[in-house]
Amino acid sequence: MKSIVFALLTLVSCAHEVRIAALPIGELRKDHEAVAPQVMVTSQGKATSASALEILAREGNIIDAFVAASFVVSVERPQSTGIGGGGFLVFYSKKENKAYAFDFREVAPILAYKKMYLDKEGRPQTILSQEGALSVAVPGLVAGLYEIHKKFGKLKWEDVMAPAIDLAENGFPLYPHLKEAIHERSHLLRLDPELLKIFFTDKGEVPHLGQTIKQPQMAETLKLIALKGRDGFYKGRVANSITQTIRRHKGVMSLRDLRSYEMKERTPVKTMYKGNKIFTMPPPSSGGIHVLQILKILEPYKLSKYGPQSVEAIHKTALAMQRAFKDRAEYLGDPDFVSVPTAGLISPEYLKQMSEFINSDSAIPSQDVKKANLPYESSETTHFTIADSEGNMVASTQTINGWFGSGLSAKGTGIILNNEMDDFAQKEGTQNLFGALGGNKNLVEAKKRPLSSMTPTIVVAPNGEAVMGLGSPSGTRIINCVAQTLLNTYEYQMPLYEAVAATRIHHQFVPDEIRIESPYFPESVEKELKEKGHTIVHKELGCSIQAIKKENGQWVGVSDPRGAGLAEGF
Ligand code: GLY
Repeated sequence: MKSIVFALLTLVSCAHEVRIAALPIGELRKDHEAVAPQVMVTSQGKATSASALEILAREGNIIDAFVAASFVVSVERPQSTGIGGGGFLVFYSKKENKAYAFDFREVAPILAYKKMYLDKEGRPQTILSQEGALSVAVPGLVAGLYEIHKKFGKLKWEDVMAPAIDLAENGFPLYPHLKEAIHERSHLLRLDPELLKIFFTDKGEVPHLGQTIKQPQMAETLKLIALKGRDGFYKGRVANSITQTIRRHKGVMSLRDLRSYEMKERTPVKTMYKGNKIFTMPPPSSGGIHVLQILKILEPYKLSKYGPQSVEAIHKTALAMQRAFKDRAEYLGDPDFVSVPTAGLISPEYLKQMSEFINSDSAIPSQDVKKANLPYESSETTHFTIADSEGNMVASTQTINGWFGSGLSAKGTGIILNNEMDDFAQKEGTQNLFGALGGNKNLVEAKKRPLSSMTPTIVVAPNGEAVMGLGSPSGTRIINCVAQTLLNTYEYQMPLYEAVAATRIHHQFVPDEIRIESPYFPESVEKELKEKGHTIVHKELGCSIQAIKKENGQWVGVSDPRGAGLAEGF
């Protein structure tokens, strides 16, 4: 994606013609945009999208397609996600007129404790939470998929697992993102003889693009899970291998941790926005709350009158993001352990104060961002979205955290173990892999879930039909990428492709800067933002929005042109 050139896109669908900085359309649009009358899938992997479509074509339901895609993406994107990790699902059931949120996030092992990543002087030892056995949290993906399928699935469990087994056995051609990830984490992967065999040539080199990547041990592990359900992972051979690997590398996760893992059903957070209901992921994700905050803080400003990417719109959007991320550090954590004031943080009274606070013509230094009164109570990662012909939708974000997680694989299983423990705060005020500021409520505790930014989101129209679903990888940037895609769609009325392709910004309170991705904005816009006191940094955000929207009675699917995904339907 480094060769992207600056492009201006003319939006004719708006009331007035607006030119926006965006990824160039044209050949990039192939694979990344699809239109279909019945069903649609957008994901970051070609085999992943194909598996969900295959299941739907075979009369499987949307949950069968979700489970198949989850296992396939675990094989196809081992750098981003996998059965050694966890995730979230937001599912809208048209028949019940109900949105569900499922949390199969990893949890801290029973022997984890608050100061486990601090040295004797109390200094954070980031390496321990990012690499190796102590960085591994108890995986939740298999338990989540199994329980969700048991509740809603139609096809047999082993049938929905078949496409992933096939892909692991027969392999797929190496693609650029995976090659880059192998290169980046090669110091870790080379230490593990089994990962060395899968991800390097016989001569120990990073393979060429197009070379087949097979995962035979993963295929055997998946067959065991197909046969035994969740017990195939959390008990017996696989569980023993995971815990022996962890013990050998001086970690603390045990068989008791694996046996006691529980998926949680949560209540989605929701708000009304521009006449539609938005349902998104509640804590332990911070993403849903902050996306809703950003949208509602900005709503009174009617930014469409300034136009997308105008100085005023970028300025106000950055201030809204800055405010939301201040709350993230202060209020968010695992709701089973700390009290998270979810209702207060998205209440109209609170958001009105937040809107008033950003009524400033100039940048507000992060140290001056005021605290609002709560009225009551207290790259990496992957995403896919599926819509079916019955008005149901799923949006699911899954992860092993950093590229190749902890860099450890459980011997003989092909499972790459996550490094999700890094999403905890090592101590208050420290920053994690994504630079997220650690708050008091997100300190390590046994069996606690680390705070996430993953934001699977579904928009439901007043007639009860799901009309849009989306999400993205990329840590804290997910929140702002999802918020901007919704703003582009509903505030600026952009067609979906343009809403996804448009240049995006990111402000996360600390560092106090607006990060802008390529192809950036015109110089004059950035000059005016600097005059308002903003610090501008040019850096990619790493998001890869996978979105589906109903447009003119058809499903439009867009897989972010920044990635190598596939939007496809029938
Ligand atoms: N591991 C990235 C997130 O959950 O936000």
